[in-house]
Amino acid sequence: MAASETVLRVPLGSLSPSCNLASSFVNSAHILSFKPVSRTKRSLRCTNSDEFSRVSKTVARGNSFHTPNCALKGKKLVSTICKCQKHDVEENIRSTLLPSEGLSSELKSDLDEKPLPVNGSLSSNGNVQSVGSKSIEDEAWDLLRQSVVFYCGSPIGTIAANDPNSTSVLNYDQVFIRDFIPSGIAFLLKGEYDIVRNFILYTLQLQSWEKTMDCHSPGQGLMPASFKVKVVPLDGDDSMTEEVLDPDFGEAAIGRVAPVDSGLWWIILLRAYGKCTGDLSVQERVDVQTGIKMILKLCLADGFDMFPTLLVTDGSCMIDRRMGIHGHPLEIQALFYSALVCAREMLTPEDGSTDLIRALNNRLVALNFHIREYYWLDLKKINEIYRYQTEEYSYDAVNKFNIYPDQIPSWLVDFMPNRGGYLIGNLQPAHMDFRFFSLGNLWSIVSSLASNEQSHAILDFVEAKWAELVADMPFKICYPALEGEEWRIITGSDPKNTPWSYHNGGAWPTLLWQLTVASIKMGRPEIAEKAVELAERRISIDKWPEYYDTKRARFIGKQARLYQTWSIAGYLVAKLLLANPAAAKFLTSEEDSDLTDAFSCMISANPRRTRGRKKSQQPFIV
Ligand code: GLC
Repeated sequence: MAASETVLRVPLGSLSPSCNLASSFVNSAHILSFKPVSRTKRSLRCTNSDEFSRVSKTVARGNSFHTPNCALKGKKLVSTICKCQKHDVEENIRSTLLPSEGLSSELKSDLDEKPLPVNGSLSSNGNVQSVGSKSIEDEAWDLLRQSVVFYCGSPIGTIAANDPNSTSVLNYDQVFIRDFIPSGIAFLLKGEYDIVRNFILYTLQLQSWEKTMDCHSPGQGLMPASFKVKVVPLDGDDSMTEEVLDPDFGEAAIGRVAPVDSGLWWIILLRAYGKCTGDLSVQERVDVQTGIKMILKLCLADGFDMFPTLLVTDGSCMIDRRMGIHGHPLEIQALFYSALVCAREMLTPEDGSTDLIRALNNRLVALNFHIREYYWLDLKKINEIYRYQTEEYSYDAVNKFNIYPDQIPSWLVDFMPNRGGYLIGNLQPAHMDFRFFSLGNLWSIVSSLASNEQSHAILDFVEAKWAELVADMPFKICYPALEGEEWRIITGSDPKNTPWSYHNGGAWPTLLWQLTVASIKMGRPEIAEKAVELAERRISIDKWPEYYDTKRARFIGKQARLYQTWSIAGYLVAKLLLANPAAAKFLTSEEDSDLTDAFSCMISANPRRTRGRKKSQQPFIV
């Protein structure tokens, strides 16, 4: 769809996310309008005025972003003419992003004296938390608020990292869609809804951008990996400036990776927004409904693939560099499943959407079956694989994917506990990636992609392997690390992904929030409590690193950013949910009985009988 059509699809009037901006934007195409910044790229623009600068400065000092919307009440944006000098706005944006002073020195020395817990053995009544947790939480809130990014005076997201001493910013000064999810949830749980609403509605606009890399355009439903608020000279008048939203769909990202997870997270956040606020008006908007359908259309499009899982390239999710996760990585499947379930809940029934909903339901059943059946691994399953026959040509082969038993890695044999199990990282013809990937497993619990039994078994596994998966800082992104020749070939000798660092077996504090949602859902919050207590011993002293290195997560990551926003927000979400476990329902999805029935039918069905012309699968039109 061309950008001009997009504008028609989404009237500017429906764009405004914050209270009084709405009426103003209806008639103000000159304030918020699409203007090409290059031949292939468009960006959302908003001219700045002195008034915007003043309002935003007040906000930054006051540490609250409720103010701008309210402060804008009654302002006639339609008549606002851009008068501000460039430096006013730049200073204004910078001033929203200053790091706080950190913890008091008394608290720091108090925490310094406490020994690090061993193998997650920290007692739940350790006194560090009772002395320090409130202050750490307060510090986290200060930092989170200081990471807020404003656009036209309204909060619209949080930057990835706010590390004042970092010499190379790269793209950490951008608002990443996936990084904002814990920030958004923290704000929702705190009752501060505007920023989330704005984020949802502005990123929806970015979805419709013309996006091109070397003359190739990806699907229209693709959401950007990140975006940035830029202050640029106003066309034709260098003394004035305007704010521009500049998205990156992967065309500037390191490795040019496609952000497949962005749209899926967007749907999940949208549903959480409705559940938490009770305000369904956002999800019911025509443009939002169309946005959901565009994402679904992209994900549900027919292709060559034999599997119901989503086929993606390497680095298309949180692990956004080459790590051998191309194909059908678990993280994408869990988010895909979750997004389908959330979308099903939110799609308003209308004539045109029957086929789409049918396609969605078919996919949910098939995906659910495929993951539960073929990705599951425990001691019993390893033993089955160990005795697999290979080269079976038949419809009812046991070893459907022709997995050679020699693939079972030596580390796995001793690693798998007697009790517990997990979903493997990836499945392809003749290939099982036996690595444990945390986010995929945790989100499979949250979304009920894993069965109830499997979900408990995953948590049993986490508990049994605490020393490896948590050690000194929760939570390992994957286990084990790729080493030696395998590292060289699979990562392409990536110096950032050396063994036990970054994506290759590093520990990421942000994963605390997904661990918390999963353990609360399964009625086992003590697992998250233990992890949070452990994190609290270091995370603030270490200045909220992006990730930790080494097998036991003992060092701050080699190239980790400090004051990483999703480390801060992940911690806050974990704390807020542990204090109010009922709120985890905004994020979880329960097992659907229709799906379970369909699932049982599939297990008992003879594959031969299911061949022939498919009656229920029809093309759908968005
Ligand atoms: C790194 C992470 C990615 C994250 C980004 C911004 O590239 O791998 O998941 O979104 O940093 O924090």
